[in-house]
Amino acid sequence: MKKNIPTLDDIVSLAKRKGFVYPSSEIYGGLAGVYDFGPRGVELLNNLKRSWWKANVYDKENYFGLDSGMFKHPKVWEASGHTKGFADPLAECRECNTRIRVDKELGNIGVIADEKMSEEVINTLFDEHRKEIACPKCGKKNFTAVRAFNLLVKSNLGDFTSEGNEPVYLPGEASQGIYLNFKNVVDTLQPKIPFGIAQIGKAFRNEISPRNFLFRAREFEQADTQYFVRPNENKDAYEQIKQDRWNWYLSLGIREENLRWHQHENLVFYAKDAWDIEYNFPSLGFDELEGIHDRTNYDLTQHQEFSGVDLRYTDPETGEKYVPWILETSVGMGRMFMAVICDAYREDELGGEKRVYLALAPHLAPVRAAVFPLLKNKPELVAKAREVYVHLKKAGIVVAFDDNGNIGKRYRRQDEIGTPACITIDFDTLTDDTVTVRDRDTGEQERVAISDLLGKLG
Ligand code: GAP
Repeated sequence: MKKNIPTLDDIVSLAKRKGFVYPSSEIYGGLAGVYDFGPRGVELLNNLKRSWWKANVYDKENYFGLDSGMFKHPKVWEASGHTKGFADPLAECRECNTRIRVDKELGNIGVIADEKMSEEVINTLFDEHRKEIACPKCGKKNFTAVRAFNLLVKSNLGDFTSEGNEPVYLPGEASQGIYLNFKNVVDTLQPKIPFGIAQIGKAFRNEISPRNFLFRAREFEQADTQYFVRPNENKDAYEQIKQDRWNWYLSLGIREENLRWHQHENLVFYAKDAWDIEYNFPSLGFDELEGIHDRTNYDLTQHQEFSGVDLRYTDPETGEKYVPWILETSVGMGRMFMAVICDAYREDELGGEKRVYLALAPHLAPVRAAVFPLLKNKPELVAKAREVYVHLKKAGIVVAFDDNGNIGKRYRRQDEIGTPACITIDFDTLTDDTVTVRDRDTGEQERVAISDLLGKLG
């Protein structure tokens, strides 16, 4: 029995059971579209962020990191176009008031639609098919007309009057923090164009129907790069960026057959060209993992106009002034996390026993190695095992200690969270300072000197 394609339920169940992801506020019945990362999940998430940061900041010569505040001046979202254009098509069931996202419901019955279609076009499509779409709650087919529902989440930050000031929104996309700091970065570091700014930041969206685990959440993190280029010098850089992003997913161990490109026909208000890298999510099929957008000079022009501040770049050699064009990459950390776990999920039989394991790349695994004393009731084995455990821990390796149950059970527990190596301290260890190191994927064991362990784990 071998299974490399899980269902979404397999993933959600493993994520909960093994401490990767919990629904938010679970003891109060949960809060739709919000999730918490548990002890295993936060390690995997941090490893992904570290890898992303390395690839997009440290490995590049002309990219700079940033961490901007979440709250921004109310005018930012007006200038960006989000207060008007950032909306999904919504219809409401006349019988039970359940709200549906019309483009998704049309998609479910095989009609091609997306959230960027005009209100008129999607209303026409919906009218043609409304008799085929049943309310997910009451089953009736009696919906209102489609209207655009704005996704921005309002806060009452700084609102101390009963009438209310202009609302301060939570970020609808993380990228705006980068545009707002473009001038700061230019003034303080004097980078030469082309250059990029990278940031991992939170985004909040009032999604009409959050669903499919971390895929469509109301609170999520986006890992963004914004690359500033000379006007009209976007083509080659865009192709290079697309290629880099594709290769990066391969470097995470994702199988290439589970990735594909999708070019958008209906463009979001800020984009001139938009490509998605799609991942073949279990139970959902291919869907957007990361968006790569050619945003032209839209963003900086808008902020220049609304703020009255000159955001043009001055070429240090020619003195030429221009508003740079922007090439964006943006991926939800939750979708990346989901894609990595889904791709690593395996079921097989080892030593006559069924098991589930995660074939995670070692640099992503939440626990790099686990240390076991062969027997729990032999103090000399336990003491030696703790010595090895502390030795690895002090070297900065994320390591677990487990003396609970038989060795087979301990292996299975580590397999399920993707621990690449299990180290057992046995009676030979006491005399020759060697241990067995068992490989997660093959189950094969080899004898390694304790002094060589760090080199082996890398
Ligand atoms: N700044 C561009 C931007 O925000 P987007 O296509 O709306 O573009 C970029 O979002 C990425 O953010 C998506 O490719 C996806 O990975 C992630 N994302 C968007 N909405 C999401 C949601 N509701 N839940 C989880 N991730 C989401």
